Amino acid sequence: MTQTYLTLNNGLKMPQFGLGVFLVPDGKATIDACLEAFKLGYRHIDTAHAYQNERGVGEALKQSGLKREDVWITTKVWPTEYGEGKTLPAIDKMLKRLQTDYIDLLLLHQQVGDYNGAWKDMEKAVAQGKVKSIGISNFKENLEDFLAHATIKPAAIQVECHPYFPQTELKKRMAEFGTVLESWYPLGHGDAHLLNEPVLVELARKYAKTPAQIILRWHIEEKNSVFPKTTNPQHMKENFDIFDFSLSAEDMTKIATLNSGKRYFTDNLEQQQRFTKWKPAD
Ligand SMILES: NC(=O)c1ccc[n+]([C@@H]2O[C@H](COP(=O)([O-])OP(=O)(O)OC[C@H]3O[C@@H](n4cnc5c(N)ncnc54)[C@H](OP(=O)(O)O)[C@@H]3O)[C@@H](O)[C@H]2O)c1
Repeated sequence: MTQTYLTLNNGLKMPQFGLGVFLVPDGKATIDACLEAFKLGYRHIDTAHAYQNERGVGEALKQSGLKREDVWITTKVWPTEYGEGKTLPAIDKMLKRLQTDYIDLLLLHQQVGDYNGAWKDMEKAVAQGKVKSIGISNFKENLEDFLAHATIKPAAIQVECHPYFPQTELKKRMAEFGTVLESWYPLGHGDAHLLNEPVLVELARKYAKTPAQIILRWHIEEKNSVFPKTTNPQHMKENFDIFDFSLSAEDMTKIATLNSGKRYFTDNLEQQQRFTKWKPAD
């Protein structure tokens, strides 16, 4: 089984597939999930300061015995740490929690607060070697304005993306910057309705895979980076078992019919204000 890589706009190669650890409690649960994933061959973990499990990811990395350069770690800065002069010290704390001296990919988690100031510090962190690649998450407003001011163009944009909401327009907007799309809620957050879509069930039968594997392979064919969350070893194995087949163009067209514009999460001004009030622990 050979996993695939995406080349970022700075030339670095990122494992296209990984494990997301949103809502996995820190400590044993995160350590066990990451160790199990590493054992299966996963080499990419997606965490965030806000998930408050960076320590568990760092501990698993250490316990795994894997070489640092063989594992890709993405984490995200929360808005309460945004600002020039404020984000760099927050990055130093992340490095400590992750027990590493560099982060592979660091994202601005939300587009609220002083994200332009934070980006300046993230650019400095790249110059200092503390971060290899930088990107954004959940950005939608004034994207062109942000991009015009950014010296380093985002290597990745992480947003909700699944067959109901394939982010076709956003991908077109980001193409000129070579920005990779990273899919969150890639399995619709485990939504049974999506996992039982007749088109996916039919394709699962055709390829002798599960509907979840068909969706994950669809992300791979779409050139999205994808890191489904699971703590279930069976699902973990199943999710990674998607590199021995590909979907035909005709079957990709069938999956495209699921595009209904349905999103599982939409924020508003009130929600964004809440983001600035809640501060994750150090
Ligand atoms: N940037 C952002 O704002 C943002 C927001 C949300 C998520 N994310 C990132 O994206 C990652 C993935 O998103 P997510 O965790 O919310 O949603 P998801 O990966 O779409 O779905 C996770 C759910 O699907 C279930 N599942 C996993 N594999 C399955 C399988 N093979 N068959 C059936 N069910 C399966 C999991 O349950 P079990 O654990 O029981 O398997 C879990 O309930 C996160 O962990 C995080 O890293 C980022």
